[in-house]
Amino acid sequence: MSVKNLFIAFEGIDGSGKSTQVKLLAEFLTHKGHKVYTTFEPTDSRIGVMIRDIFNHRMEGDQRVIAALFAADRLNHLLNSQDGILKKLKEGYTVITDRYYFSSYAYHSVHNIDMDWVIQANSMSADLLRPDLNIYIDISPDVSMERLKKGRNSFEMYETLENQKMVYDKYKEAFDRLGDAEKVFVTDGNRKTDLIAEDIRIAVEALIGPGNN
Ligand code: ADP
Ligand code: TYD
Repeated sequence: MSVKNLFIAFEGIDGSGKSTQVKLLAEFLTHKGHKVYTTFEPTDSRIGVMIRDIFNHRMEGDQRVIAALFAADRLNHLLNSQDGILKKLKEGYTVITDRYYFSSYAYHSVHNIDMDWVIQANSMSADLLRPDLNIYIDISPDVSMERLKKGRNSFEMYETLENQKMVYDKYKEAFDRLGDAEKVFVTDGNRKTDLIAEDIRIAVEALIGPGNN
């Protein structure tokens, strides 16, 4: 039985271990013979650079503008003719992204932006491509803050415990609301890296079949 190449999105609050697990899953699938393309949001496109400039206070941007830019960045992430996700999938790659639209649902709705608006603003992306699996790394905000203090790798705008807790709650709300339309796998991210990776491998193998490449 041949299996179509998958699109997998990792989700979680800052410091939840997404990039660590993206790398491990990519290595695992590559070892099994899959062509794997890993990517992330915000992207490194011009739109992604604008988002980072706002986060770094080099450019002004209201939270509503940020939410809209992320929706545009995501459409470009899917559609651009150089290395867009849809192109990569067509070329036979399994695509793994560090963040996709659930990040928008969680992060922007904490800023008094109605989650319905965020879902609507991303509906074209959802219509174009829903992940075969959303992998949510469920980590307590306290643990993630401890990890972030050790290795700094993200944006200060969102990195307060209070904000992490709000985003955490919004992720739960988004999964509750959209659980019927989306495939979501939740793994306990408070554990050791290897245990989480093993859980994720099992979930992905359930999609591709243990004997399949
Ligand atoms: P994210 O991409 O979600 O921000 P990272 O993968 O960059 O998260 O992890 C954040 C920090 O926590 C990094 O310093 C990383 O080495 C560390 N880390 C990742 N997973 C674990 C884990 N299971 N246990 C302890 N530390 C971890
Ligand atoms: P990222 O580089 O993944 O940070 P981290 O490695 O800490 O998880 O993401 C950058 C920030 O952008 C992160 O704080 C989450 C935020 N973000 C949004 O606010 N909306 C979105 O749609 C996405 C994809 C990310």
